[in-house]
Amino acid sequence: MATLRLGDEAPDFTAETTAGKINLYEYLGDGWGILFSHPKDFTPVCTTELGYMARLNDEFAKRNTKVLAVSVDPLDSHEKWLGDIEETQGQAVNYPVIADPDRTVADLYDMIHPNASDTMTVRSVFIIGADKKIKLMITYPASTGRNFDEILRVLDSLQLTAKYQVATPVNWKDGEDVIITTAVSDEDAKGKFPKGWKTLKPYLRVTPQPNK
Ligand code: BEZ
Repeated sequence: MATLRLGDEAPDFTAETTAGKINLYEYLGDGWGILFSHPKDFTPVCTTELGYMARLNDEFAKRNTKVLAVSVDPLDSHEKWLGDIEETQGQAVNYPVIADPDRTVADLYDMIHPNASDTMTVRSVFIIGADKKIKLMITYPASTGRNFDEILRVLDSLQLTAKYQVATPVNWKDGEDVIITTAVSDEDAKGKFPKGWKTLKPYLRVTPQPNK
């Protein structure tokens, strides 16, 4: 198994999920995707994470992005646990959860880190672009719940920077000023960024977010 890196093609797979059999590429269509692993069903941190992700699902849908969770637990376990998530988090899980007992998906995406645990996946998140390339990977330990608002923030940055020759500064949020990339000359920037920009250094030019 090759190590996955940013820019690599996201490995395709077909898997059983709580929404029936899903092929990743067909499921994503021409949109973006979030694939995230949780270590184990019926555990507290995972319960909060899957509930919160369900609350955010409309925001991902607005960004043409589909969500998909995975763990190495089997389907009947997932189905029983989803009831607990709805009961305790006040939100039904509204995206498919992959059952991966034979670890096909976990192995393809290198989600089992044996020195952390032989049996459970770590908390991985992959953002997959519309071109099926991996745009972001993060890895958290089992004991720390992720910040899914951050995933949404990064998705906004990725979708913006895919369209415009900009980069987003520290702690940027959708709607805030962005940075013109150094590949754009001042001459070209006049046409591309008609709202103008501030030059703090020749390599640091700040402009209002172009699509707002
Ligand atoms: C949890 O989700 O709470 C959890 C899962 C596996 C190990 C530790 C915590």
